[in-house]
Amino acid sequence: MGKLDFKNKWLVVTGASSGLGEALALELASKEGANLIITARRKEKLDSLKSRIESEFKREVIVIESDLSDPKSVENLFRESTGKREIFGIINNAGMTDFNPADIKDFEKYEKIIEVNMKAPIKLSLLFLDYFKKKGEGAILNITSMGAFFPLVYQGAYTASKHGAQVFTEILSKENSGENITISSFAPGGIATEMLSNSGLDKLRGSDDFFNWSAERVAAKAIKSFKKKKLLGIPGFVYKLMLFLKRFMPKKALLKAAERTYRKK
Ligand SMILES: NC(=O)c1ccc[n+]([C@@H]2O[C@H](COP(=O)([O-])OP(=O)(O)OC[C@H]3O[C@@H](n4cnc5c(N)ncnc54)[C@H](OP(=O)(O)O)[C@@H]3O)[C@@H](O)[C@H]2O)c1
Repeated sequence: MGKLDFKNKWLVVTGASSGLGEALALELASKEGANLIITARRKEKLDSLKSRIESEFKREVIVIESDLSDPKSVENLFRESTGKREIFGIINNAGMTDFNPADIKDFEKYEKIIEVNMKAPIKLSLLFLDYFKKKGEGAILNITSMGAFFPLVYQGAYTASKHGAQVFTEILSKENSGENITISSFAPGGIATEMLSNSGLDKLRGSDDFFNWSAERVAAKAIKSFKKKKLLGIPGFVYKLMLFLKRFMPKKALLKAAERTYRKK
């Protein structure tokens, strides 16, 4: 039961064009010596990250442009990445949210959120699990959220998708505990990224306060937890405490507190 070692291994990182995904790619290349397949929709951002990693850290990087809200692209990403290199691990990090009261007029947006945050990581986990079983080793990290455990009022589709991805990861890990394959999850609290600024969530508490950590800080914790093969990693004492205290809170009280926290000013 040693730690995972990523040195000279190839890992796929989804959602690497910004925020946590970009920071995870940098952490893996600079500190762990990994080579990377990085993916997202914004190719120019991925290309500039590739150049930076190759020149600063002398690691190999392959860019695959992919829209994970399209199920066909999810399968293509698997086929293309495993066709190019022998993959040791995947980090399912890509994600999106919508911060508004739920409304039928936005249903298409919710479908995309569920595709990107839940269906894509579930499918990629299963495709790579099958591939890793044939190789006899591998590692999967699914980035979920505190929203996998708390009702983030005004982010219903996001919260539902993260609950789904979290519990699926836990079950998959149990079902495959006899394999030489790590199946891990990591549930951050707030991170000061485009997700907050694009959705307007940054206006609630600012984007760099006590609760919203930098992407670099969260990425370092996520990789540390993944290397230790933790079933669930949570960054920071405050969020661990919140999760513990949640056990004693009635659902209605929890919803009331969440509504107050996320009510737009
Ligand atoms: N920020 C937070 O407070 C927070 C808290 C807890 C958990 N998280 C989780 O952390 C992960 C990273 O989020 P972040 O905060 O770093 O947000 P971010 O800066 O907005 O990054 C999201 C990434 O996902 C990619 N993405 C979005 N839609 C996609 C699609 N349809 N197909 C492919 N890629 C797509 C984006 O790339 P393109 O736009 O280029 O496609 C981007 O690289 C997410 O899973 C998020 O739920 C974030």
